[in-house]
Amino acid sequence: MPDLSRTALNIEDLRQMARRRLTRGLFQFIDKGSEDDISLAHNRTALTRIKLRSRVLNDTSGRDPRSTLFGKPVGMPVVIGPTGPAGFAWYRGETALAKAAARMGVPFTMANTGNTPMEKILADGGGRQWAQLYVWRDMEASMKYVTRARDAGFEALVVTVDSTIPYNREHDFRNGVTLPVRVNARNFLDLALHPRWVFGTIGRYVLADGHLPRYVNIATPPGLTSKQISEFLFKNDTLNWEFLRRMRDMWPRTMIVKGIMHPDDARMCAECCVDGVIVSNHGAIASDSAPAPIDVLPSIVAAVGDRMTVIVDSGFRRGSDILKGIALGADAVIVGRATLYGVSAAGEAGAYRALEILHAELRRTMGVLAVTDMSQVSRDHVIVPPDSLMNVIG
Ligand SMILES: Cc1cc2nc3c(=O)[nH]c(=O)nc-3n(C[C@H](O)[C@H](O)[C@H](O)COP(=O)(O)O)c2cc1C
Repeated sequence: MPDLSRTALNIEDLRQMARRRLTRGLFQFIDKGSEDDISLAHNRTALTRIKLRSRVLNDTSGRDPRSTLFGKPVGMPVVIGPTGPAGFAWYRGETALAKAAARMGVPFTMANTGNTPMEKILADGGGRQWAQLYVWRDMEASMKYVTRARDAGFEALVVTVDSTIPYNREHDFRNGVTLPVRVNARNFLDLALHPRWVFGTIGRYVLADGHLPRYVNIATPPGLTSKQISEFLFKNDTLNWEFLRRMRDMWPRTMIVKGIMHPDDARMCAECCVDGVIVSNHGAIASDSAPAPIDVLPSIVAAVGDRMTVIVDSGFRRGSDILKGIALGADAVIVGRATLYGVSAAGEAGAYRALEILHAELRRTMGVLAVTDMSQVSRDHVIVPPDSLMNVIG
């Protein structure tokens, strides 16, 4: 089969390819935010309102977006973020993403609700890999996951703290994309209209594993029904800073907290000795009234940027967006949907195409700003709207 993702000129082209290949329910699960999609739109608007100031007459022929992250080199200051449905988007989609990341020399983050054993993703995917943690009500099962990721050798643990409250994603309820899956006339037709995905992804799991995809990295008690698994996966809303300190004691390598939107919370993370924070509104999924992470990034960099690594995500679709994040003080940018669209469109090749597009756009934008090295990118390169939250440091 020819690799159509080669013809994609930008992330939106990959998004359209993903839309055609996936069922409508799965595509909306990946593509949409929550409630009225206000935060989703704002994540993009906040980035597009920032302007870049071009500079001239500095030999930029050797420009190179390579950088370092947690003391190690990266091909560009980008990380593939954790996205639960990667393994539903493509057969062994997590491994496909990890391989694409390794080829581009950037880290990949494995979501903890994957359906390929974590040791297999680590071995087959190669490169730098981080493991993401949601903490469920069953604390013991959550700790088993952390121990397993530690023993497997993941480079970093990403503790997601912004999702203890269930999301309000009405499209998923309507489409029956829930656990247990609600079969209705609408999603039955949806499956019938997308044979490439049904046979190419779900069918391959059934052939290889003898059953439908399962959450294989979570220590659920045996014999649970789908409804019981869904209840098991309710996140733990009793988490507090004491919990984070305990995690710190338990995890011997790099530890990163994902979902920080307030400078005081970032300061608390620094006090708990974590190594980095991810400024994120979970790609507009956690709340539909959230500011864009890029809005609050400068205040968080001002609070902790001298003490810890600061990464930002949510809404990044262009190389120029990445450069704006770096100019406003981030050490790196996470992409979620950009590579998820790529892997949905064409597996590893599509995910790599997404990274390749971002790399080319980033390199091009460096030329426009007349910089040759990412360390030369500064606040002076961006013009922030006067009414933007980005001007509020607090
Ligand atoms: C479909 C989907 C699933 C996600 N699953 C997870 C997850 O399992 N764990 C997590 O910490 N974040 C998860 N995220 C959030 C991403 O890691 C990231 O913060 C977000 O996608 C960034 O926004 P972007 O998609 O606009 O790049 C998910 C996001 C999407 C869109």
